[in-house]
Amino acid sequence: MKLTSFITALILFTVGCTETVEKEVINTNFNHKALVATVMSLGDSGVEGSVTFKEEGTGVLVEGEFSGLEPGKHGFHIHEFGDCRAADGTSAGGHYNPSETTHGAPTDMDRHMGDMGNIEANDSGVATVEYLDETITLEQINGRGIIIHAGEDDLTSQPSGAAGSRIACGVIGVAQTHD
Ligand code: CU
Ligand code: ZN
Repeated sequence: MKLTSFITALILFTVGCTETVEKEVINTNFNHKALVATVMSLGDSGVEGSVTFKEEGTGVLVEGEFSGLEPGKHGFHIHEFGDCRAADGTSAGGHYNPSETTHGAPTDMDRHMGDMGNIEANDSGVATVEYLDETITLEQINGRGIIIHAGEDDLTSQPSGAAGSRIACGVIGVAQTHD
């Protein structure tokens, strides 16, 4: 009896370990090539739009379009959390900064991974963005937040470019692609 119990326990233990290992392998096997965030108004700002992130060449192609903006520049960042629950957007946390560096422009060597600079709205309140980002990796930004700010990111002030309040928020997720 005792031996049987021991063997049963050993089998259960072995099966348990195998399942754990398989789950870890699956979780590290990130193979998505495109992500998307639908960005929605915080409060009554009326700002909305979407942005996609696609692997292209040596970087990630960032393409987006937004409406309902005041004409001019608006800070545009990836924030740490994909959490838009707070009415003022603070639930998204600070700029996504996995290498613990300083705030900067998207073209700077020292920048937060989330530093995408500014989007600039025309007189109709529409802003488009399209650039190749050499720092972002899809695996790291998946599930994190997009924030658009009321003011311009000056690209130098620490820790977040003095871009003012948060007027729109979105969550980055896996995009539907048609290969
Ligand atoms: Cu921001
Ligand atoms: Zn930053």
